[in-house]
Amino acid sequence: MRRLAILGASGHGKVIADAALLSNEWDKVEFFDDAHPDIKFVETWSVIGNTNDLIMQANQFQGVVVAIGSNDIRLCKQRYLSQSGCQITSIVHPSAIVSPRSTIHQGTVVMAGAVINPFSVIGEACIINTNSVIEHDCILSSGVHISPGCLLAGSVSVGSGSWIGIGASVKQLISICNNVIVGAGAIVVKNIKEQGTYVGNPARKLF
Ligand SMILES: CC(C)(COP(=O)(O)OP(=O)(O)OC[C@H]1O[C@@H](n2cnc3c(N)ncnc32)[C@H](O)[C@@H]1OP(=O)(O)O)[C@@H](O)C(=O)NCCC(=O)NCCS
Repeated sequence: MRRLAILGASGHGKVIADAALLSNEWDKVEFFDDAHPDIKFVETWSVIGNTNDLIMQANQFQGVVVAIGSNDIRLCKQRYLSQSGCQITSIVHPSAIVSPRSTIHQGTVVMAGAVINPFSVIGEACIINTNSVIEHDCILSSGVHISPGCLLAGSVSVGSGSWIGIGASVKQLISICNNVIVGAGAIVVKNIKEQGTYVGNPARKLF
């Protein structure tokens, strides 16, 4: 039996559990969360321990994925779990289309309806959320979140820890540096070279 552990009893965790089970690659999903034992269930799934409990039981899970929305915490937790002997895995929803000529690094989740076209590279612990499009030759660093409905045109690069908000679009060949937030619905037409929050069409720095 293939058991998947999800760290983070969140809404995002539920979506990962659903995708994992639909993929038929996992027989059983169990959750861990640092709020355990206060939290014991996520819908019908059990929360059976915290981060330390997960590490103690690492050899009982064929895969571990971190379901924490904060990009830096997710990446940090994933690296800690990996160093502690957990087998970090990626989850791809069966309705996502991922080119076999693209690369997805460990711990990344690809949600329903997402498309990753050829020759793109997606770093570790990324979220490629529902119905987002990553066109050809994009490079996403580690801990990036591409929110639902985002469109990244060809050859876009996104730096580590950056979050592209729901429904945002990024023009081809654009480069976005580390730790940037692109607000919901923004249209990015120029390179973003400085950390900060960018909104609007065309996207401009908010703070
Ligand atoms: C950009 C964002 C991070 C800013 O959040 P915040 O720091 O809490 O900022 P506020 O909501 O206080 O807004 C500050 C100002 O920016 C404006 N603003 C906020 N988000 C905006 C957006 N996406 N586009 C245009 N203007 C925006 C607000 O109207 C406000 O303007 P005002 O000062 O004239 O009233 C947030 O609004 C956003 O877009 N988040 C993305 C959400 C998302 O993608 N969720 C999906 C998760 S899966």
